Amino acid sequence: MKPTMKPYYLHLFVCTDPKPGGCGERGGEEVRKRLKEELDARGIGMEVRVSRCGSIGLCKFGPAMVAYPEGAWYVHVQPGDIPEIVEQHVIHGRPVERLLVHSLQTSHKLPVEV
Ligand code: FES
Repeated sequence: MKPTMKPYYLHLFVCTDPKPGGCGERGGEEVRKRLKEELDARGIGMEVRVSRCGSIGLCKFGPAMVAYPEGAWYVHVQPGDIPEIVEQHVIHGRPVERLLVHSLQTSHKLPVEV
């Protein structure tokens, strides 16, 4: 029997780690919910997987988010940034430079001190 589900073309991991000072306290869950809402509103919620994740080591720059397969790491992500991230990164494949820490594809250098 052939699988009937299409694979996700993009995986977005949003840090919601609840530790003190972590992304959970900095709004990670709100970012995750807003991301899911935006993807659903644009009709691509079934093509892009949104998951919670634990700390990725950028705690004081949170909320942090990682996009694969690009390996793009975003920091200081706020719910208000989500429409831009979806429009630019998810739909057009262009990382949002102002929030980007590192991209495996572009070898983008760190815009914030880590
Ligand atoms: S708690 Fe989110 S990166 Fe550490």
